[in-house]
Amino acid sequence: METQVKLTKLAACAGCGAKVGAGTLAGLLEGFKTRTDPNLVVGFDKSDDACVYLVNEDTALIETTDFFPPIVDDPFLYGQIAAANALSDVYAMGGEPKLALNLLCTAPAMTGEMVREVLRGGYDKVYEAGAVIAGGHTIQGAEPLYGLAVTGFARPDRVLTNSAAHPGDVLILTKPLGVGVLTTAAKAGLVEPPVLDRVTRQMAALNRAARDVMVEFSVHSCTDVTGFGLLGHSFEMAQGSGCSLHLTAGSIPFHREALELADMGFLPAGAYRNREYAQVRVAPGIPRAMQDLCYDPQTSGGLLFALPEREAAACLARLEGAAQVGYVTPPGDAALYLE
Ligand code: CO
Ligand code: CO
Ligand code: CO
Repeated sequence: METQVKLTKLAACAGCGAKVGAGTLAGLLEGFKTRTDPNLVVGFDKSDDACVYLVNEDTALIETTDFFPPIVDDPFLYGQIAAANALSDVYAMGGEPKLALNLLCTAPAMTGEMVREVLRGGYDKVYEAGAVIAGGHTIQGAEPLYGLAVTGFARPDRVLTNSAAHPGDVLILTKPLGVGVLTTAAKAGLVEPPVLDRVTRQMAALNRAARDVMVEFSVHSCTDVTGFGLLGHSFEMAQGSGCSLHLTAGSIPFHREALELADMGFLPAGAYRNREYAQVRVAPGIPRAMQDLCYDPQTSGGLLFALPEREAAACLARLEGAAQVGYVTPPGDAALYLE
């Protein structure tokens, strides 16, 4: 009986595709009276992956939260993916996660065993990350939601913001694109099990290994590619850094099946929102489906980081599945180019 409840059928949108668009969010947050604190070195005004608070000269505290509706039907995998995604924002700041709190909303159609499996998936990933689940909060609602609030630490001089790319840097992306398209098409039964397996494993994979390699190089800036898609997050990095970012379409890794499905029009709503938000100068001749993949919201996507070109080859050699996807120049006519 339990197997008849399909988790993804209980939710209107899936994973990071449910994220409110960046443009909408900026409008919602506009004009609030906020306190300032000199120790809050990264706050919400920076559109970064997490906020950063200077505890003392050796310690920066990194805090973030992420939760979303089911992206897969298997409750254990859903828990793993939601947790990996939430932990990722600490990695994107160059930090190490230490404490996590569960954020859970159960839906009436979920059995007790399903709820347990979601939580077990979360515990599994937090354990793998070397962090501790210290508590949480569970409510009941119309649709299932799961994620974490995560606290991590970094040395203050090693914190990586999404707004510090330098001209002369190259851009590295550590996971292939297409997650949003594939999970959307999977809801309609259009994705073969081995393909869905591949993309599920990718979403459940922590960005820990990529972070651990990244911090050994002179990385200037980093973010993780999630709900706003590669171009949305790149646009934020370009604007924040006051540089132009150039993405080279031919070098961007993606799931081949996702390109086929995007070509057939299987796009999550978030891809359209991201296209409206990110102002991109697209070179002629780049197929529409490839552009769509670059706007595709990624759940638990890879890290996107900028480092000096001379270090790129050594860094790439240590990262499995990563690719050099572009470069950074002084500000030009546009903030972001897809070429
Ligand atoms: Co992020
Ligand atoms: Co996030
Ligand atoms: Co960051």
